[in-house]
Amino acid sequence: MMLALAGFQLAFALLGTALTLPAIETKKGLLSFPVLQKRSQSVNLRKRDNVVALGNVSTLTYLIRLEIGTPPQPVEVVLDTGSFELWIDPTCATAATQGQEEKCNASGRYVPGQSSTYVDKGAKQHIGYGKGGAEISYAADSILVPGSNSQPLRNVVFGVGVNTTELAWGVGGIGHGNGFNLHYNNLIDELHAQGITQSKAFSIALGGQYSETGGAIIFGGVDTKKFGGKLHKFDNMPPQIEGSKEGPWRYWVQMKSVGITTPNKVVATYEYSTMPALLDTGSTWSYLPQHIFDSLQDDFNATLSEDGSLEVPCSIVDQPGTVDFTFGDLTIQVPYSEFISQLEPGYCALGVLPRKGSYDRAVLGDSFLRSAYVIFDQTNQHLYMASYHDCGTNEQILSGEVGAALNLTGQCHSGHHLFASIPMCWIIVPAAFVLWVLALFL
Ligand SMILES: *[C@@H]1O[C@H](CO)[C@@H](O)[C@H](O)[C@H]1NC(C)=O
Ligand SMILES: *[C@@H]1O[C@H](CO)[C@@H](O)[C@H](O)[C@H]1NC(C)=O
Ligand SMILES: *[C@@H]1O[C@H](CO)[C@@H](O)[C@H](O)[C@H]1NC(C)=O
Ligand SMILES: *[C@@H]1O[C@H](CO)[C@@H](O)[C@H](O)[C@H]1NC(C)=O
Ligand SMILES: *[C@@H]1O[C@H](CO)[C@@H](O)[C@H](O)[C@H]1NC(C)=O
Repeated sequence: MMLALAGFQLAFALLGTALTLPAIETKKGLLSFPVLQKRSQSVNLRKRDNVVALGNVSTLTYLIRLEIGTPPQPVEVVLDTGSFELWIDPTCATAATQGQEEKCNASGRYVPGQSSTYVDKGAKQHIGYGKGGAEISYAADSILVPGSNSQPLRNVVFGVGVNTTELAWGVGGIGHGNGFNLHYNNLIDELHAQGITQSKAFSIALGGQYSETGGAIIFGGVDTKKFGGKLHKFDNMPPQIEGSKEGPWRYWVQMKSVGITTPNKVVATYEYSTMPALLDTGSTWSYLPQHIFDSLQDDFNATLSEDGSLEVPCSIVDQPGTVDFTFGDLTIQVPYSEFISQLEPGYCALGVLPRKGSYDRAVLGDSFLRSAYVIFDQTNQHLYMASYHDCGTNEQILSGEVGAALNLTGQCHSGHHLFASIPMCWIIVPAAFVLWVLALFL
């Protein structure tokens, strides 16, 4: 998800007090959380310059559950590599629909007054997300480190929703923090500063679209049973022009090309598809420039629907074709079954929307990331990628050394879960959530 960065300057102004706590002893050196999948009704999907209204459709959001305060209070937040601050407690009563309000009610609340370690930081900020927005008040508190007998992560700064509109969940922004976009430690910074991780690196497997398991985020580590073969290392590109000015630090990687491999094994690579691409778990869709969007429409013989998405017959979902994204000499082949989403029964759409604007930039959201295993290494400004497979769990610590992940080889054989098929009986969870996952500057 990309923030409207109106409040961004304020984040700079908030000077979180530097921590002088002793580092926590942890032998593990990594911290892993399952990635939760929540399917919900999305009423609108908009972009600032290009209003794209997706009707009443069902989309998937990826979340993690944090336990905040003393005693710990569980809250679910959207896992978001596209932003860099943590905030919780959306205002459920102003959620867009009743279904969204239910989702919000069920996602847990943090009540500052019920935590003995709560500290009011005395600063506020407004974060805009297209239609929805959040006014937050900064706090500091402990965050439980699961699976460890050690102390919790202490004095972590985050936002508490004061008045949010049309949002069902808070956001776990895990982008670049202190020294990049912030003048205080975000969650990634604190995990490292307090000795939970050996590097400001984490890895993400979202898991397949129709499997409830297989997704995990590992702070400070890698799961070698979530990919096959070697990881490929890429530079995290510096801030890119967003709108008319330079944006914040984000996880930008140079994409070499986009193409497809049809079920008949006809391979096409699209012209002018070399560009920086943002890896954004907070975006349900991927955004590609219009000419690539048009090529995909032609190659899929897709129908441009009123809501702006590309509708394809649901019958093609199980065919063995792929949409191919190449970075250096790595090609991530996204199976049709993961790139195409069933938005309502009998209505299937490609996981892509057009990106308007004069700069060629791509946003690779969940429709791409489900098929990739990615390590985000802020210590060395590298991104590592491999194709996602799921063949169990084998978590390993990632040291802060340059290239450390290159020594870790994926233990899965290609083919593991590559072409997952949609369950026969596909049920839409009747809940609502306004998709606020908006490429605002695009
Ligand atoms: C959206 O669809 C769900 C289930 O299909 C339905 O219960 C709900 O009323 C619809 N909402 C709107 C705003 O059309
Ligand atoms: C959400 O929780 C509030 C407060 O407990 C309650 O008044 C409201 O009816 C709930 N909304 C839904 C849709 O369940
Ligand atoms: C909450 O925010 C909305 C939109 O910014 C505003 O209209 C409303 O007055 C605010 N409510 C409160 C209680 O501050
Ligand atoms: C493309 O779609 C149209 C209408 O959906 C259909 O009539 C036509 O046969 C399709 N062409 C191919 C090559 O699949
Ligand atoms: C990779 O492994 C080799 C052999 O075990 C070791 O010597 C080297 O230091 C490792 N490199 C990194 C960056 O961890």
